[in-house]
Amino acid sequence: MNFRECLENENKRGSLQVVSEKSNPNLEVAIQINETEPAPVLFEDVNGLRVAGNLFANRESYARHLNIPQETFLHTLHAKLSAGDVQLEKRDGIYGEIELSEVDLSKLPILYHYQGDGGPYITAGVWIVNDPQFGPNMSYHRMMITGNNRGTVRVVENRGTFNALQHSNGVAEAAICIGAPPAVLLAASCSPDPGINEMELAARLDEVTLVKCKTVDLWVPDSSEIVIEGRFVNETGDEGPFVDITGTWDHIRQQPVFEVSRIAMREDAIYHALVPGRGEHQILMGMPKEIDILREVNNVCRCLDVSITPGGSAWLHAVVQIEKTKASDGKAALEAAFRAHKSLKHCVVVDSDINIHDPHDVEWAIATRLQADRDMMILSDQPSSSLDPSATHIPGKKSRAAKMGMDATIKASGEEKKMFYRVR
Ligand SMILES: Cc1cc2nc3c(=O)[nH]c(=O)nc-3n(C[C@H](O)[C@H](O)[C@H](O)COP(=O)(O)O)c2cc1C
Repeated sequence: MNFRECLENENKRGSLQVVSEKSNPNLEVAIQINETEPAPVLFEDVNGLRVAGNLFANRESYARHLNIPQETFLHTLHAKLSAGDVQLEKRDGIYGEIELSEVDLSKLPILYHYQGDGGPYITAGVWIVNDPQFGPNMSYHRMMITGNNRGTVRVVENRGTFNALQHSNGVAEAAICIGAPPAVLLAASCSPDPGINEMELAARLDEVTLVKCKTVDLWVPDSSEIVIEGRFVNETGDEGPFVDITGTWDHIRQQPVFEVSRIAMREDAIYHALVPGRGEHQILMGMPKEIDILREVNNVCRCLDVSITPGGSAWLHAVVQIEKTKASDGKAALEAAFRAHKSLKHCVVVDSDINIHDPHDVEWAIATRLQADRDMMILSDQPSSSLDPSATHIPGKKSRAAKMGMDATIKASGEEKKMFYRVR
């Protein structure tokens, strides 16, 4: 399914809200997306183009778009992503039914999301780069627009695009796909080992056909609504201020500058707008980490489900549900979760009778099954998330913070165990 088919399906279900009057990309659209969340919304005229938001604002809608049953969502995703080799479909020709005659980013409905942002930002762009050492890489990067053909790009250190830039003297080509199909949106947010092409992960989830770009030597998903081609120019500039997934201001940093060489799109293109810190940002960023934790915890005990919780900004907190068979399983699961998601800060492990999507139920498990001096794991001065305002941040270095794991599983065995179950 591609981006506009997802939108059409939501329309058929009657859940799509449509704003037909002209809307202003300067805060107004972001405010309305925020207000309609989690309902998907289509703006019919923002700078002359259509804009869609909240298509992936919760697990249910994502499961629907990927045609995966909600009940087995994470396990099915994990199984599909781990399946064998796939052949990437390619078609002849060049991407784009329409090409802007002038390379001018101000012709796109790029939003200002918050008062005080450093500029209008592209936030849902999937970046395709080629690493001369490891091959193609796909990930998200926000880009702050600084001119008609220029922007400054947040490139987190030691990930795919950062490595590609290191391996190409800072002048790598890139294609930014906006309105990419849901399988591509999910795969781009995964961080497999270098050398694994995320586009192949996407193709394990759904059919993806690739087509060549015109001004850069890269392949992009054919159904992308808009593709911006260009190159990093081995310069840096101020990036920010920007409100990130935690809903707090991220630091202003010196980041790589990108120069655009072509803007092309489908007919009647739909710009994908993603409001930072809101549901869609949280789902797209947090969900792949749930799969990583599921995989790693499964290596040490049976993992039933994982939730990267909205209260932890879908990035810093996780609840892991296990089927405990050994006394050591709870702590082993905590260690595995921290290994799988390096930015994870607090993690709770619970038994199969706890609803991990209900914060009250999780707190109940902590209240009735945990003793702080026996069941806690506190790790000091760990590599951590650049997004945690309370961590220690030194420019150019990985952020550091303390971590806390809570084993809220039942510790008793035999007959004693029944004292720990909620009486229904
Ligand atoms: C909506 C969204 C926005 C993101 N923005 C950025 C960003 O601006 N910079 C960045 O380096 N990573 C960003 N990320 C995270 C990366 O896309 C993610 O870590 C990715 O898995 C990195 O993949 P890689 O390790 O293959 O490069 C974002 C993720 C999402 C879902």
